[in-house]
Formats: sequence, C-alpha cells, structure tokens
Amino acid sequence: MHMLSYLLFFFWNIIPKNMTHISEAVTASDTFEQLKKLLRGIVPETELIVKAEIAYEINRLKKEKNAIILGHNYMEPALFYSIPDHVGDSLGLARIAAETDAERIVFCGVRFMAETAKILNPNRMVLLPAEVAGCSLAASITASDVRELKAKYPGIPVVTYINTYADVKAETDVCCTSSNASDIVRKLDSDSVICLPDEFLAKNIARETGKHVITPGSERTGKNDMVIWDGRCEVHDKFTVEDIENARRQFPDTVVVAHPECSPEVVQASDYSGSTTAMTRFVKESDAGRFLILTECAMGDNIAAENPEKEMLRMCSIRCPHMNEITLEDTLKSLREDIYQIEIDEDIRIRAKGSLDRMLELS
Ligand code: 13P
Ligand code: SF4
Repeated sequence: MHMLSYLLFFFWNIIPKNMTHISEAVTASDTFEQLKKLLRGIVPETELIVKAEIAYEINRLKKEKNAIILGHNYMEPALFYSIPDHVGDSLGLARIAAETDAERIVFCGVRFMAETAKILNPNRMVLLPAEVAGCSLAASITASDVRELKAKYPGIPVVTYINTYADVKAETDVCCTSSNASDIVRKLDSDSVICLPDEFLAKNIARETGKHVITPGSERTGKNDMVIWDGRCEVHDKFTVEDIENARRQFPDTVVVAHPECSPEVVQASDYSGSTTAMTRFVKESDAGRFLILTECAMGDNIAAENPEKEMLRMCSIRCPHMNEITLEDTLKSLREDIYQIEIDEDIRIRAKGSLDRMLELS
C-alpha cells in the first residue's frame, strides 16, 4: 500500500462525535451550523460555509419545484447529509424512484441509476446533475454483445447487473444489484446462467451459488455453468489482498468490509461483503471499533460521520470519477434549469422495465 494511504489511516483516526442527518433549516446559517456539527473533522469549515448556502437554496427550490432528491451512498459528505430526501444503494433508490409521485426526480448518482428511475417511473422528469457521470461497468458492454452471447448460449437466462444502460437491460431476462444478486441467481428456474457484465461480482456469485465460471466463447461444461463478461469497476478493481494484509499488520483488530465488485480474492480475505447499504448497516451494528472500508472513499466519510466512536480506515487515493462529477453546484443548476433530463426510447424502456420488474418481484 502507498505511504499516502497509511497517512490517511492515521489522519482519519480523528473522527467527530454525535452525528445525525440535518433537520429542516430556516436559514443558510442554520444549515451551516448543523453540517458543522455533523461533519467536524471530515469537511473543513471554510468549505462547509459555501456548501451550506448552496444546500439551503437547493432545499428551498426542490419544494418550489415539487422535486425529490435521491442520493447514492457515494455522494460526498456535505451533499449526502444536506439535500437528499432519501439516501441508499442502487436497489433501495430504484424502489423509491419507482414509487414517488413528485414531479421531478433529481438523481445524485450516476447515469445508469437515473436511467433506472426513468425506466420505472416514466411520467416523472428525471434529472442527472452532470451530463457525463458514467460507470466503467456500464461502459463495458453493449446490447449487441448481449445478443451475441444469447446466440452462442441459447436458452440460458441472462442476469444483468443494474450497472448497465437501458439498451443492455432491454436484452436481459432479469436485473440484479449487489444486494440481491446471489438470491436472484438461486431463484431462477435454471441451473446455468449468463451473468453480466462484472467479472468480479459474477465470480463472487458463482462461488456462493456453486456455479462453474465460463468465459465468453468457451464451451459449456453442461451443468451449473455461469457465463461471465470481462467488465470491471475501475474503483474496486484497485483494492488488493496486500492492502488488507497491510491494514491488519498495522491494526490487527481491523474488521475488513468490502463491496462485492472487489476481486474474489479480496472478498474472501474480508470479514464482510455486501451492498453499500449493507456495508453501512454492518458497521453500525457491529461491536468492533475499527474497520477498513473497501469501496469509494466518500462512503467511508459518511459512515465515519454516523459512527463517531468507531474508526474508519479508508483509501482515499482510490475514487470513483463518475460519482465525483455530482456536486452541490451542479445539483442547484440542474434544479434551476431542469437539466440534464433523462430520455429513453419507449420500446427499449418497456423491455428494460421487464427485467427490472422481474428483479423487484424476486427480491
Ligand atoms: P450498490 O448498489 O451497492 O450501492 O453499488 C453501486 C455501485 O456502483 C457500487 O460501485
Ligand atoms: Fe461504476 Fe465503480 Fe463508480 Fe460504482 S464505483 S459507479 S461500479 S465505476
């Protein structure tokens, strides 16, 4: 591990006390006072003064424009704790997006999440605050790749990670997220599956469900096969078993919590693996005092804010550039100007909705 990461381990030992989400603020300075209490030692005060003003204006405007703000767990702490009506993982936010009757859904997350909201609830205006907030997994596969796989392996159901674009979902039998993937694979009426596009997530599911991993183009073994793709999350791909060993060498009582987009070796060397919400819940409910959080660093900050008595070790040199596109400034612009609106071709949307509906029924 880099020297920088060790320094961060030490620096982040200083964590603030008594955190909760902010309540409704009457003025911008109320917002600042509440954020300061929540995020002391995590976000510098000078930064919070500016961010609190923007957050206050967003909260005022979202009521005026009948908007709901959904915030993924990876949002930076000042945004995460000030403007979302709901925070959560991909599955949790998809469920809320499907049910809201607000006129606008502002999605503080990445494009595939905003697309999922539009697929499930097409009569709402869905806004993504940054024009380009992609995902290396979603970019790793196209609809024609999926059609070719279906032709090569006919009759095998396609399970696709929610981290894909609408046209890929449209070619899919059922979607899954990090919180329900193994469950969905077990519940399908098929011993073999095509599981796309995350190589690591698929290998982690294959281990849990007892399937043989088959790379595209290879011949099937005949039973219990899982055909995988070679997509990877550019963030989770960077965590190594050596990082875990270094942390444990330095702090032997460290409990290691990893997202299932990490390699199977990293997941197996960890103490717990689950979706971003499951990781957050695990830390909250655990009696342990020190954790290594192997996922986007901002989520480690958000967990630290809510668990001031626990120590969060995190590697902040590894970031998701796509999630980091979403800022308070751009969210305000998005609400003011109704940009960037998500539009999906109706034929694709209906087919993609089928695979999301199946997932929601099965999970
Ligand atoms: P979750 O569904 O666990 O929030 O994961 C989404 C994601 O993109 C993780 O990198
Ligand atoms: Fe995609 Fe990885 Fe970023 Fe999640 S962390 S949005 S999987 S690139």
